[in-house]
Amino acid sequence: MAKDKLWGGRFAQPTDKFVEEFTASIRFDKRLYHQDIRGSIAHAQMLGKQGIIPPADVAAIVHGLQEILQQIEKGEFDFSVALEDIHMNIEARLSAKIGEAGKRLHTGRSRNDQVALDIRLYMRDELTDIATYLDLLIDSLLFQAEKQLGVIMPGFTHLQTAQPILFSHHMLAYVEMFKRDKGRMEDCLKRTNVLPLGAGALAGTTFPIDREYVAELLDFPEVSRNSLDSVSDRDFAVEFLAAASILMMHLSRFSEELILWSTSEFKFIELSDGFCTGSSIMPQKKNPDVPELVRGKTGRVYGNLLALLTVMKSLPLAYNKDMQEDKEPLFDTIDTVKGSLKIFAAMIREMRIDPVKMREAAAKGFSTATDVADYLVRKGMPFRDAHEVVGKAVRYCIDQQKELPELSIAEWQGFSNSIEPDIFAAITLEASVNARSATGGTALTRVKAEIERCKAGK
Ligand code: ARG
Repeated sequence: MAKDKLWGGRFAQPTDKFVEEFTASIRFDKRLYHQDIRGSIAHAQMLGKQGIIPPADVAAIVHGLQEILQQIEKGEFDFSVALEDIHMNIEARLSAKIGEAGKRLHTGRSRNDQVALDIRLYMRDELTDIATYLDLLIDSLLFQAEKQLGVIMPGFTHLQTAQPILFSHHMLAYVEMFKRDKGRMEDCLKRTNVLPLGAGALAGTTFPIDREYVAELLDFPEVSRNSLDSVSDRDFAVEFLAAASILMMHLSRFSEELILWSTSEFKFIELSDGFCTGSSIMPQKKNPDVPELVRGKTGRVYGNLLALLTVMKSLPLAYNKDMQEDKEPLFDTIDTVKGSLKIFAAMIREMRIDPVKMREAAAKGFSTATDVADYLVRKGMPFRDAHEVVGKAVRYCIDQQKELPELSIAEWQGFSNSIEPDIFAAITLEASVNARSATGGTALTRVKAEIERCKAGK
């Protein structure tokens, strides 16, 4: 019967069973129980301080809610679909427990500002957690960068060998990306960390509430400035989903490289057995499932961003039931991002690399051709001419099936008489790498300094 509902007063007939199932959010929003209880306790304490409800009721509410919290945590709370969502499940249980006083809790509040509060409280913790998980991954990358310092690999453009780089430099590229991802989470936290409670259903409340006091109790540095906006917007959640999508894009690119580097064709790395699985038919297989799945899960995170943007795009102010659809994309993204970061941090730390394979690959594909051109520039030749000369030398090497360092001085001088025997020292892999010593370059001293800077948290 609709009479069983907290809002049953104006209804003559019971809710259709299927409608009840269809409109309920308890299946997924029960995750907000802790935030819901915390918010209600603060709200009750404020109501008491303002003399809106009697002190004895506040005490009963706080005690009752604490008991409910314990019950939920012990798995002893029976969530009811008929009670629709976490807010009404808890409130109904409270009233059943403590009677009258429980029924006073919702004074000066609406589920609209209540749910906005719960999500913000929840996201606040999750954003902080995700930033910590990013730190763990950054630590693993720095661990590898430091451990493998000096290992040279080919750098690619268009997935074609381009120039030799330090493997550590490649790891530090991801450190930079994940540092920015962390910054995006921290930025999002600033806009999430605003108290919406007190907006009521949409227009505020007629009771003499003290929102600043609630903010203090719940540790919010700011109170929202417009009641309509407070209950209507989910931009902080969209912002998080966008930041999460960018983060997943980074993880997915990294995954792609790990998958490629694990192939028998590359063999640059070996992921530890714990992070791979075998094939049910091909006995030789060791598949990089973890990076593959992370790459795959990137799709659902992008989808979640699009889902919430689309839910929000045409909603008139203020609250609309459509907004209940904010939670699943949000929760799914939080789980996916945390899971992916956690597993990546461990996998990267345990990853083994093959410095010989990397070096062999770096020595192929005329990777030091740019260094020969730069050498000619230092001998006075304009860069465009130098480019042409080296292009011809590469062409010659292809025909002769040689690499550039294998050319004799006589062969070199056939291309330009500016070339002298010091060419050999100028185009070793080490010389190539170490010559790139300006800020941001791959030179050993530079990379070493960057590792130190990152380890110092800068
Ligand atoms: N379960 C709802 C949600 O998640 C709570 C807010 C309901 N408000 C309302 N006026 N029906 O959005």
